[in-house]
Amino acid sequence: MSFLKYENNILKFEGVAISEIAKGRTTPFYCYSQNTLIDNFNKFANSVASFDSTVCFSLKSNSNLTLLKTLEKLGAGADVVSEWEMRKALKAGISAKNIVFSGIGKTDKDIQFAINNDCFQINVESIDELNRINEIAASIGKVQKIGIRINPDIKADTHKKISTGSLEDKFGVSIEDTHKIFQNRANYSSLKISSIAFHIGSNIKELNPFENTFSLIGDLAKKINSETSIIDTIDVGGGLSPQKRNFTFEEYAKLIHKYFDLEGIKFIFEPGRLISADAGILVSKVLYIKNITGKKFIIIDAGMNDMIRPALYDANHEVLPEINNDEFEEINTDIVGPICESSDVFINIKRFNKIKIGEYVVLKDVGAYGSTMSSNYNARPLIEELLISGSEITTIRKRQTFEDFISNEV
Ligand SMILES: Cc1ncc(COP(=O)(O)O)c(C=O)c1O
Repeated sequence: MSFLKYENNILKFEGVAISEIAKGRTTPFYCYSQNTLIDNFNKFANSVASFDSTVCFSLKSNSNLTLLKTLEKLGAGADVVSEWEMRKALKAGISAKNIVFSGIGKTDKDIQFAINNDCFQINVESIDELNRINEIAASIGKVQKIGIRINPDIKADTHKKISTGSLEDKFGVSIEDTHKIFQNRANYSSLKISSIAFHIGSNIKELNPFENTFSLIGDLAKKINSETSIIDTIDVGGGLSPQKRNFTFEEYAKLIHKYFDLEGIKFIFEPGRLISADAGILVSKVLYIKNITGKKFIIIDAGMNDMIRPALYDANHEVLPEINNDEFEEINTDIVGPICESSDVFINIKRFNKIKIGEYVVLKDVGAYGSTMSSNYNARPLIEELLISGSEITTIRKRQTFEDFISNEV
């Protein structure tokens, strides 16, 4: 069910007109639908409820504290990749027992923070990192549970910049090295190496890459467990596309039943985009409109610093006018931001509603990798974030002020 729709040609989010949400506020801003977030989480969590499992929401997709608190109440754990992400998860009330720490370049501080705060599992991406975590755990005097992130060398059908599971990508440890690590695990006296993890990429629309990976890693897990019975946790990562996905959650869950021994195994799921993407919109205002040699530019007040995915990944985010006036212009049009970069283009379209300066437009499906990837480029502030739940609208992150922006500079 979509909470973003036209009613009598007026675009509404959770039943409230965009112009009403924007009244008295500075654009651009993000707005998240609480009901979409809850629906998305519950649908996925229910589909994997037959497993002994934790759904660890991936904070890199969206780490707003209010959204995290909402997810925590639904039973979510967290997938984090930095000390501050872990701090945010803890602050939102997510128990360290439900936090998995991933990432290929953890610093000593990250590792110390994770171990000191009883992080459920640290996923390791190289043998050097394994050695370092062993040393740090020894110096702290704790035994840390470890997952080995395997690079299965499987290509996901996604943009090359969000593919992570092939040997051309920097992520994970080879299958060969994984075997060696499990064979030599007695050398790591401050680690409990008892899990394998993988994540083959993001925005994956086909079941095939998951099936190939589950088959490969299911066999590996069975082989390791036939020798030692050590693996007690399998972290299958995230990556499921929320849109135009050619498989159901039930088909995905069936594959886990098919390829893994479930006896005594806990599963971790790390969805990000699936939960948060369509919960978020970016509301922006038209600043200027100009025509140059047959091409039209609609210049809006949101820029690539607020939402970088189109510039970085060629991501396609539909842009909707606040009023669907049924009057269209058939002209090659770029909807662009104000940033001094030619790549600051949100979308190119051949047909768009007649729109006027001062009207609002909405970028769809930006609740994932939107705000978390935003920056101060061109000395622009980090923008406001709102939560909408029915008619209730709350500011859940204030717009950055100039004083905030320069406070650490000398
Ligand atoms: C290790 C890991 N887990 C989970 C995710 C979340 O991916 P997605 O938002 O596609 O579900 C990512 C994203 O890159 C990741 O690197």
